[in-house]
Amino acid sequence: MITGGAGFIGSHVIRLFVNKYPQYTIINLDALTYAGNLENLTDIDKQPNYRFAKANILDTEALEKVFDEYDVTDVIHLAAESHVDRSIVSPLDFVYTNIIGTVNLLNTARKKWKDDYSKHLFYHISTDEVYGSLGDTGFFTETTPYDPNSPYSASKASSDHFVRAYHETYHMQTIVSNCSNNYGPNHFPEKLVPLFINNIITHKPLPVYGDGLYTRDWLFVKDHALAIELIFSKGRSGETYNIGGFNEWRNIDLVKLLCSLMDQKLGREKGESEKLITYVKDRPGHDRRYAIDATKINKELGWKPSVTFEEGLSETIDWYLNNTEWLQHVTSGSYQNYYQSMYANR
Ligand code: NAD
Ligand code: TYD
Repeated sequence: MITGGAGFIGSHVIRLFVNKYPQYTIINLDALTYAGNLENLTDIDKQPNYRFAKANILDTEALEKVFDEYDVTDVIHLAAESHVDRSIVSPLDFVYTNIIGTVNLLNTARKKWKDDYSKHLFYHISTDEVYGSLGDTGFFTETTPYDPNSPYSASKASSDHFVRAYHETYHMQTIVSNCSNNYGPNHFPEKLVPLFINNIITHKPLPVYGDGLYTRDWLFVKDHALAIELIFSKGRSGETYNIGGFNEWRNIDLVKLLCSLMDQKLGREKGESEKLITYVKDRPGHDRRYAIDATKINKELGWKPSVTFEEGLSETIDWYLNNTEWLQHVTSGSYQNYYQSMYANR
């Protein structure tokens, strides 16, 4: 069972598993919040080994029903509230889904798997943001102390601790992986890359927070999905794996690269999209720099990113330009209210 499979990363993980493992039944459990979109899966949803279960991870009864109906053997848990800016406005939503929802899912797995934990794996997908903020140098390793700064990262940190506690206390088999910023197709246009792609297409301002010198380590979503599959099949129980792109970009440099690639692809004059860059009020508690040391997963499991940033970004832009209907669907209705409330007074 993969939770959050209708979301950005989850949909890529579902696609990979459905195609790679015809002998497994892959259950996509998702509540379909604003971020969940079954249109992300139209290419695989008719496959005989795919099932969709609409359920909220806060709903114990619904979870137990799905575990019983499908005899769930393993869980890859991606369902979460995932956007830092939303967590600043509504922290409790993040406490409910990310902390209580995860504990609820752990409890259900514990109850259903109690006869023999050694046959089952609970694999929790987390973020590098739990480690806090780096200065100009250094990297996050698996032993970097947790130091979360946003309600989002605090809620993910808490859920990671619960997963670890269930391993130590009940001896459930668990793994946690902490990944850097993902980008790629099917990304909801509230995060930096898809928001700016959409705004460039529609000639809207590109709202760069603060001085634009914040740094993120970017990984193509399909490479994250491959890492998840590798960790699921070969990772060691009780361990944490950091996943990263070895690919640090300051926001403003990334935005300028995006503008220049999009000018070429849209046949616009060189420099046209850069004119849309607008510096706006900073995000409170904004982490200055994230960078992952992915040596462990590289040495232990042989994983490394398969595409360069330029290749991944080019594929991403092409996907958005070829999927205007998807973009129109997700940006109509409540998205307009979100955009107004988040950016109108910035
Ligand atoms: P997303 O917001 O695109 O998708 C989240 C999915 O979870 C949606 O389909 C949504 O409907 C579902 N969901 C939300 N609340 C739910 C609930 N209460 N019950 C059931 N389903 C619910 O998120 P994403 O970017 O794909 O991230 C997936 C996971 O990966 C998250 O746990 C996130 O913390 C982690 N992560 C994300 C990134 C990133 O760059 N996006 C990086 C590292 C880790
Ligand atoms: P985001 O995609 O929200 O990911 P995260 O906050 O989880 O790293 O943001 C990436 C970076 O881009 C982060 O430093 C905040 C910045 N940012 C902007 O400058 N403008 C925006 O409109 C958004 C959404 C993000």
